[in-house]
Amino acid sequence: MAIPAHVPADRVVDFDRFSGPELARCPHQQVSALFQASPDLFFTPHDRGHWVVARAEIARDMLRQPDKFSSHPRHNPANQRNPRTLPNQSDPPEHTELRRIVNGFFSPSGVQTMAPAIRDLARELIAAVRDRGQCEFVGEIARIFPVVLFLRMAGAPLQDREQLSAMADRFTRSPDVKDRLAALEDLATYLRGLIAAREQQPADDLVSLVVHGRIGDRVLDDDEKIGMVTLLFLGGLDTVAATLSFFMLFLADHPDHYRQLVQDPGLIPAAIEELMRVHGVAGTERGVTTDMHYAGVDLKAGDRLVFPAHVYGICNQATQDPLTVDFSRPVSTHLVFGAGPHRCLGSNLARLEMRIFLEEWIAQIPAFHRASDGEVATRGGLVWSPVEVNLAWPVMGSTP
Ligand code: HEM
Repeated sequence: MAIPAHVPADRVVDFDRFSGPELARCPHQQVSALFQASPDLFFTPHDRGHWVVARAEIARDMLRQPDKFSSHPRHNPANQRNPRTLPNQSDPPEHTELRRIVNGFFSPSGVQTMAPAIRDLARELIAAVRDRGQCEFVGEIARIFPVVLFLRMAGAPLQDREQLSAMADRFTRSPDVKDRLAALEDLATYLRGLIAAREQQPADDLVSLVVHGRIGDRVLDDDEKIGMVTLLFLGGLDTVAATLSFFMLFLADHPDHYRQLVQDPGLIPAAIEELMRVHGVAGTERGVTTDMHYAGVDLKAGDRLVFPAHVYGICNQATQDPLTVDFSRPVSTHLVFGAGPHRCLGSNLARLEMRIFLEEWIAQIPAFHRASDGEVATRGGLVWSPVEVNLAWPVMGSTP
C-alpha cells in the first residue's frame, strides 16, 4: 500500500509479519535484530499497511491505555472480523462485563481442578513414543496435548480435532487475508452448531458457561455468544502447542539447561518464564482512537498498531544480555501474555499445562537431543511455530 502522508520516510521499515524472510528460521533472533536496528515505532507497507511497536516499554504503556489505543474494530477498520472476536475486540466497560463471565473458569483455582486430567494425558502421549526413542514433537505431541484438553473442557467432539486445528492454523498463519477471514467464518459456522446444542441442553463445560452467561439481567446475544466461543477456541487451539514446540527445540539443543531441570524439577516454573521470555508466540493489535503525537510520531485516528509481543522479552532494553537463557534470572515481566485489560485470559491454564508436561517428560525421558542438525523451519503470522521438531533419545536396553 502507499505510505500515508503523516508517516515520515525514515519511519518506514520492510517487515512482513506473515511471510517476511526473518520468520522462516530462528524468528526470535532475526526479528529482534531487525527491530533493534529500526525506530521504536515504525510503519510497514505490508498486510495493508500498519505501524509496528518495536519496543517492549512502549508496547506496555500503549496496551494499558484502551481509551487511546482501542481493541474495537471501529477504530481499526483493517481488522474487521466476522464474527467480532470477544472479549478481545472490545474495550472497557463492554470488555469487563464479557470477561467476567469466564474469569472464574480460568482463575488459578479454576484451572487447578483440571490438573489430574492434564497429567494423565501428558503421561499417555509421552508413553506412546517413549520406547520408540524418537518422535516428531509438533505433530505427535504438541498439536494433540493442549488441543485435546481444550476440546474436552469446551465440550467439543475429539474426532473434530484435526479439522478445528486446520481452521485455527489458516486463521493465524495464512498470508492471504481473505483466507484468514474465511477460516474464521468456517470456525464460527462449526461453533454455531455447538452453541445451539448447549442452548438446548446445558452441560458442565466452557461453551455452556458462555451460552448461559449473563450481563446484568440479560443473557448474551447471538453475536456475543459466537464472538466469545470463537476466540476461546482460537486461544486454546494453537498457542500452547507452538510454545511447547519452541521449548523442546531449545532444550534438545541445550542439554545443560535440560539437565538442570532433570536434577531439580522445582526449577520448572522459573524455567517456563525464562523460556517464554525468549520464545513468545503471539502478538496483538490496536487502533488509534484520536489524532495524537506519541513516541516521536504523529498518529492519526484509525491508524493500525501491531504489537509483535513474540520478541518483546528480548527487545526489552531493561533486560541484560537478553538472548542468554538463565533459569536463575529474577522473575521477568515479559509481555508474552500481553498487558493491560486484555492480558491473556488463558495464562494460568497455559502455565499449568506446560509445567505438568515438562514434569512428565522429565520423569520418562531423562535425556534427549535433536534427531537431525541444522536450523528448523518456522512459520510466522499471528502465532509463530516451528514446522517440525524431530527429537531422539536413548531407549533402555538398546545401544545409543
Ligand atoms: C502460551 C500460550 C498463550 C499465549 C502466548 C497467549 C497470548 C495471548 C496474548 C498476547 C493475549 C493478549 C491479546 C490482546 O492484548 O489483544 C491473549 C489474550 C487472550 N488469550 Fe491467550 N495466550 C496463550 C494461551 C491461551 C489459552 C490456553 C487460552 C484459553 C483458551 C487463551 C485465551 C485468551 C483469551 C480469551 C484472550 C483475550 C483476553 C481479553 O481480550 O481480555 N490464551 N493471549
